[in-house]
Amino acid sequence: MTKRTITPNKILNLLYTEHPKFHGREEAGSQSYAIKPEVLKWMANNIPTGSNTLETGCGYSTVLLTLLSKKHIVISPFPQEHKLIREWCNSEGVNNDHVKMIAETSQDVVPNLECNDLDFILIDGDHAFPAPFIDWYYTADKLKVGGTLAVDDTHIPTGKILRDFLLKEHTRWSLITDIGTTAFFKRISKENVARDIIWVQQKYCELPKSSLSKRVINKLKRTLRLK
Ligand SMILES: C[S@@+](CC[C@H](N)C(=O)[O-])C[C@H]1O[C@@H](n2cnc3c(N)ncnc32)[C@H](O)[C@@H]1O
Repeated sequence: MTKRTITPNKILNLLYTEHPKFHGREEAGSQSYAIKPEVLKWMANNIPTGSNTLETGCGYSTVLLTLLSKKHIVISPFPQEHKLIREWCNSEGVNNDHVKMIAETSQDVVPNLECNDLDFILIDGDHAFPAPFIDWYYTADKLKVGGTLAVDDTHIPTGKILRDFLLKEHTRWSLITDIGTTAFFKRISKENVARDIIWVQQKYCELPKSSLSKRVINKLKRTLRLK
């Protein structure tokens, strides 16, 4: 099939005027839980064409990443969502031959996922504890240094904790921007950024200073009482 050339901005306009429905718990195609248009606009302006990308969850972001990437991995459990997205892409002339859609939960897939040198990761699948952390833990080291990690739904406690954690990891991650409730971070370290790091090397896990002094005082008190 001959594919028409379509720009990221044109595809965003189409998505947000046509409002195709890809989601739905009972029946895929009955709902849309699409990411906010300003988030996709930011991605369209900042993710270079020809990128190597991955997302957990799927939807409008998948359409945009399909257009921007040379290789894209989508992990989400419902094959019907994937079918609807491919059909919509085909109807709009968006080539999706380079997109691998894995119809399983990301928790089951990411621990053994083979991919490397990612330019961009979007975490927007299951938001229940601890799914976003599993997504992050098993994919973050596959991101290139300088690559971008997006954490969606930072108003949900799981997304918020992940954002708060990454903010404290300032030798490994740098916040690029928050667009509404989506946080974009840049990987800045060539050392591991997720795996094989012990808790004392993570600022987020630092014990409050006062607790150390309290422990010393309590120990002193106990020692004095014994005398
Ligand atoms: C909020 S929607 C994603 C919105 C999408 N980024 C967009 O722009 O339209 C959440 C997605 O996560 C998927 N999902 C649900 N449970 C999941 C899981 N355990 N692993 C991966 N994806 C999951 C849903 O099927 C749905 O596609």
